[in-house]
Amino acid sequence: MTVTITIQQPTGEKIGSFIAEDNRSISQMAEKNNIDIPVSCCQWACYVCACKVKWGNKYIQIDKIMPPAILPERDTEGNFKEIMTCVGGIKSEYIKDQENHEVILEKLI
Ligand code: FES
Repeated sequence: MTVTITIQQPTGEKIGSFIAEDNRSISQMAEKNNIDIPVSCCQWACYVCACKVKWGNKYIQIDKIMPPAILPERDTEGNFKEIMTCVGGIKSEYIKDQENHEVILEKLI
């Protein structure tokens, strides 16, 4: 049904939310919704766009736009702790299913 993505400041303050689209990166979706996530290389090389995954790790596809050069660190359960929002997006299966899902990301800068 929908995956709602919420972006927070490094302080935890909410910046805004938007509904995920397939075949777009999170930074592209954020820009479309007037939420500023800084980007530079857009190739998973500079780390400028990194966000901490606070909720909804299972819905995230870290290589939605392109494969990673280096895999981000994982937690003890095997979930990625961070996402490069320039290349990461939401798994298609969760955008197309019949349930509502939530992802919360916290900007690092
Ligand atoms: S903009 Fe450089 S890693 Fe995303």
